[in-house]
Amino acid sequence: MIETRCRIDGCPVPIALLADTHDTDPAPILASLRSHAPTLITLAGDFVRGRKPRPGDSIDKSRNALALLAGCAALAPTFLSVGNHDAYLTQADFDAVRATGVKLLDNAFLPFDAGGRRLIVGGLSSGYHTAYRRCGATERDVRSPDPETAWLAGYAAAEGYHILLMHHPEYIRLVPPSVELVLSGHAHGGQWRFYDLRTKAWRGVYAPDQGLFPPLTGGVVDGRLVISQGLSNPAGLPRLHNDTEIVYIDGG
Ligand SMILES: [Fe+2]
Repeated sequence: MIETRCRIDGCPVPIALLADTHDTDPAPILASLRSHAPTLITLAGDFVRGRKPRPGDSIDKSRNALALLAGCAALAPTFLSVGNHDAYLTQADFDAVRATGVKLLDNAFLPFDAGGRRLIVGGLSSGYHTAYRRCGATERDVRSPDPETAWLAGYAAAEGYHILLMHHPEYIRLVPPSVELVLSGHAHGGQWRFYDLRTKAWRGVYAPDQGLFPPLTGGVVDGRLVISQGLSNPAGLPRLHNDTEIVYIDGG
């Protein structure tokens, strides 16, 4: 696991971005968070176990995940959004998640005052969660379903600095331009990373919902989209030139 630092102009507070933790051992993550002491901790989805989740699985099967969430909430205000692996969690599971002290944002937003600013923290849930809730569709039934976006206009209009947790980076096309900072994961860095001599940048080979040679797998895009390469390896294939990472975001 590496600790990646990045700077986002205008970001009012130091933020830690975790993504795709997939029920991994919380100890090294919590040790890193303890030493960096960010003002805000964010988890951009896929916190339940990594193997293909199924309807009926409960959060009780993800004990590391609950320990991680409780550990984060004990360190700093912690916000969480819903990824595709979290799609089948029930309201009772969400209640158990909220009991850890984290703020779970399921197509919702909350104001939060920090760093002398009003932050407006939102969470855009995976479209797989939306599809499952609407009609019971699972990842086997539907490919890349659209997320619920009706609430985004009201979110973007709220006064303050907007931080949007959004598991799927490919949803960036749906995010109003006035949202200053968007935090994502899901792409796992593209699983295998290579240095592209043409663009002189590292890029990934494959990402779910983006396909081969995906454009959005890591780093900072357009000065506002930060993509974590994730903190676990649920794919069952080795990661190549692709460390798991915690991203620490500083303002400027
Ligand atoms: Fe994901």
